[in-house]
Amino acid sequence: MLEFVRIQKAFPLYVRRVALPGTGARLRAVHLSDLHLEDGFSEGWLRRLVARVNAAEPDIVCFTGDFTCRKAEFTSASRACAILRRIEAPVLAVEGNHDFLGGAAGKAAELMWESGFVVLENSALTLDIQNSRIQVLGLRSLYRGDDAFEHLPLPDSQALRICLAHEPGWANRLPAGYADAILSGHTHGGQLAAGGAEKFWMPKYWDGFSRGVYETDAGTLVVSAGLGESGPRVRLSMPREFGVLTWGSDE
Ligand SMILES: [Fe+2]
Repeated sequence: MLEFVRIQKAFPLYVRRVALPGTGARLRAVHLSDLHLEDGFSEGWLRRLVARVNAAEPDIVCFTGDFTCRKAEFTSASRACAILRRIEAPVLAVEGNHDFLGGAAGKAAELMWESGFVVLENSALTLDIQNSRIQVLGLRSLYRGDDAFEHLPLPDSQALRICLAHEPGWANRLPAGYADAILSGHTHGGQLAAGGAEKFWMPKYWDGFSRGVYETDAGTLVVSAGLGESGPRVRLSMPREFGVLTWGSDE
């Protein structure tokens, strides 16, 4: 089974390149999601991913949750963290439902911090990059119920606002104009989707946003098909992906 996972991991990565509207700010961000790390993960594959991220020369990296598979205490976790620490740009992150539920609760975030990620939990960070004001707003997982909505960070109308929200369903629950862009994952693009049957696999809170770019009242939503799997460690006709997102005249 582990060998099969490794063969799957050898498949090429799809790079989603998106030029996004904004405030005139210039920014390049790499969007990662749904690593789903656990014992048996391929160190070589993770190293190649980090090399691809660094080669894109992003100003920031955004990680939209599901670092683990509901279990943060796996024996190779420290090796995964050491590899991810080689990402050269600042990494801003939120938890996914797999980081909040089961044995991962409270511990997956520690692994992300150990990886050098800044974990935002209904909080925001403002950065000054290339003389542009960038605000990254990180939301809790909708699986936290009412807790997810407590103390939502306030958007800064003077900044380019990038919201990290694991579940794309957040786009239907946020106020109009909340962010310039909302980055999500969670769906794995259907993971086992074949022949347009994605809706039969989709998890709660996908709200019809499977993968790609959508215009919503809350902001432009970018949904990543992610980098890992949950349930069966298999993808059918759904490549792993990461995003290279640009604002302004960067590319
Ligand atoms: Fe996931």
